[in-house]
Amino acid sequence: MKIFNLVVKQIVNETKDSYTIVFETPKEQFNYKSGQFITLILKINGSEVRRSYSLSSSPGIDNYPSVCIKIISKGVVSNYLKSNLKPGDSLQAIEPMGNFFFDPKSSAQQHIVLIGAGSGITPLFSIAKSVLQFEPNSKVSLFYGNRLKEDIIYFNQFEDLAKKYGSRFQVVHSLTKPENNWTGFTGRINESAIIKLIESISPIKFKECQYYICGPNGLAEEATKALDLLGVGKANIHKESYGHDKNEVAAASVVAASTLANGKSRVKIIDGKKIHEFEVDPKHTILETAIKLDINLPYSCQAGMCTACMGKCTTGKVHMENADGLTDNEIKQGYVLTCIGHPASAEIVIEL
Ligand SMILES: Cc1cc2nc3c(=O)[nH]c(=O)nc-3n(C[C@H](O)[C@H](O)[C@H](O)COP(=O)(O)OP(=O)(O)OC[C@H]3O[C@@H](n4cnc5c(N)ncnc54)[C@H](O)[C@@H]3O)c2cc1C
Ligand code: FES
Repeated sequence: MKIFNLVVKQIVNETKDSYTIVFETPKEQFNYKSGQFITLILKINGSEVRRSYSLSSSPGIDNYPSVCIKIISKGVVSNYLKSNLKPGDSLQAIEPMGNFFFDPKSSAQQHIVLIGAGSGITPLFSIAKSVLQFEPNSKVSLFYGNRLKEDIIYFNQFEDLAKKYGSRFQVVHSLTKPENNWTGFTGRINESAIIKLIESISPIKFKECQYYICGPNGLAEEATKALDLLGVGKANIHKESYGHDKNEVAAASVVAASTLANGKSRVKIIDGKKIHEFEVDPKHTILETAIKLDINLPYSCQAGMCTACMGKCTTGKVHMENADGLTDNEIKQGYVLTCIGHPASAEIVIEL
């Protein structure tokens, strides 16, 4: 994995609890696709922490790479950066990664539907700009959910895109706590709302659209259920999830499994010539436990999105919180992601 030193050019407040970090053009070649993310590596109170952030800038359109961060209550990194970061500072970042991206083709003529909530808008903003700029015959519909109108990130930028591109760009906001004078959609963007929103676009051939979905707290699951009901094929659905409550996800992911007498599993990780052996409580992921024990394993997003932590399970069983980050073929061959992998047998061997 390549590590960049990104120098902060500017910090822009987007809403009362979100801010954009604009970086200087990196000295080394910095290639990315709309929708991909970088992972920041920070030292906070003596400990290393890593957090991923989607690039809100678009390659070939925006001169400087940027990310937009929403402040999470008691969140370590989102608050630390807001309080401490200033122009001129340098941040370490793992190279852009992720399979949730859009590659424009100038001759394409397609309808891209973007579904997002909260901070999940950042990769969708990048994708919208790329489609509109580089695919002159394609159009974009965006559904964006927030609590209040003042929480809407990029509200003015979306208005500008609508003015610039006319009928090629449509944005529909939905608010869960609308002010009295709000005349738009209301309520959470859940399964039934998504169906209603898609059916409200005219004209739309919804089985032919490409869907890009990003947001916290189960948005991707709700959207997938809605698109399944509409008969949209899997190949047309692209999704990224972040911002789950990790404790809830982990608790739901523990499966009944045979363990050692102490309720844990013995995990052996073979990383080239290095061998790491440690015990893992099935309530925790293998990577989480390794980090706590100061065992140096490869990782980036910690959310099953980038495959930096992938290994082949050659003995025993690993239960993954979701299988979105691996192909069916990789799963069949026994590959697992340690960042979302919980032990599901007493003895486990993983080869990186
Ligand atoms: C691929 C990827 C791309 C991402 N892109 C972005 C982005 O563009 N912008 C952005 O703001 N964030 C993004 N995130 C989320 C980001 O990586 C951090 O998780 C987020 O900033 C919170 O980090 P923190 O250290 O402030 O909070 P932590 O200290 O990690 O978390 C504090 C508590 O809040 C919970 N939590 C964390 N995030 C959320 C959330 N969103 N909603 C509710 N509870 C939460 C945690 O489970 C924990 O209980 C992305 C994540 C991934 C995996
Ligand atoms: S660290 Fe990204 S998939 Fe595991």
